Amino acid sequence: MDKIKNLADLRNLKDKLQSKTKLREKSEVPEQMIQVKVAMATCCIASGSRETMNYIVDELDKRNIDAVVTQTGCMGYCYAEPTVEVTLPGKEPVVFGYVDARKADEIIEKYIKAGTLVEGIIPVNYQKIENN
Ligand code: FES
Repeated sequence: MDKIKNLADLRNLKDKLQSKTKLREKSEVPEQMIQVKVAMATCCIASGSRETMNYIVDELDKRNIDAVVTQTGCMGYCYAEPTVEVTLPGKEPVVFGYVDARKADEIIEKYIKAGTLVEGIIPVNYQKIENN
């Protein structure tokens, strides 16, 4: 953490902490939030998923998009790393493969902001079992 040298630094720190708190409160109702999961198992990281995750976190923040970004283990799509799962409120999760910064930018602009599908979706290889 940076040193607080003056009142402006203190206000900046307060604003940062308040926005993190807001996000944490919203994340208690994740179905109402944009959720982004980045696979971060060992070979995901070797393929660049850490850079992808950092890019997504920074860009969502810069573009004022509220989203919960988390990391997950292997999603079973090791051949297509880095892989990113995006769930828009009220929609089924969509998994994108080979997500570098360029692809992440496209996903943010086209899928997250506009709801338009983009190339690179990995077909789902499982289905949820609903309890009726
Ligand atoms: S280890 Fe990265 S998705 Fe499987």
